[in-house]
Amino acid sequence: LPDALALIIGYLLGSIPFGLLLTRVAGTADLRSIGSGNIGATNVLRTGRKDLAAATLLLDALKGTVAVLIGAKLSPQGAMIAAFAAFVGHIAPVWLGFKGGKGVATFLGCLFALHWPTGLAFCGVWLSVAAITRYSSLSALVASVAAPILLFVLGHGGEAFVVSAMAALLWRKHAENIARLRAGTESRIGQKS
Ligand code: G3P
Repeated sequence: LPDALALIIGYLLGSIPFGLLLTRVAGTADLRSIGSGNIGATNVLRTGRKDLAAATLLLDALKGTVAVLIGAKLSPQGAMIAAFAAFVGHIAPVWLGFKGGKGVATFLGCLFALHWPTGLAFCGVWLSVAAITRYSSLSALVASVAAPILLFVLGHGGEAFVVSAMAALLWRKHAENIARLRAGTESRIGQKS
């Protein structure tokens, strides 16, 4: 039962679409009809509201962190269950007909709570790739692979396994970005569309 609770709480927290909520309250352009159409911080930035993009990144990450911290209190494997559930909640929220986001911020928030040095490493890799390429998607794709490798190398096999599964889903959600990257048409950070 504690495991089921970790799963449900994780999913419900993860499924809160902060990007959509914040932009709707602020009355910006509709996320679904601009840029990539995604509900995440990168697309919120395309509304021109840096403050809302930062808040989206923070809140979408924090919901993952909070889910994992709650899960950790519930059962020995609750942290990992809640991490996976929160991630799935973000990318497939029941409230949006399971059409959610791409999971980058929530992935990071979960990672920080599971093993904070790996969370920091994720940020380092993301920022490095972004500094060089200005592609948000590519930065996330690379950082999401680096994270489970690092966890594994540091001896956190269980976390490495769960985070690998999350990374695989993150890659799947970035299929259109990958196609645009290959075609050379992916938009760069700071570019309007
Ligand atoms: O982090 C989400 C990012 O990787 C891609 O977002 O809006 O450019 O598809 P977007």
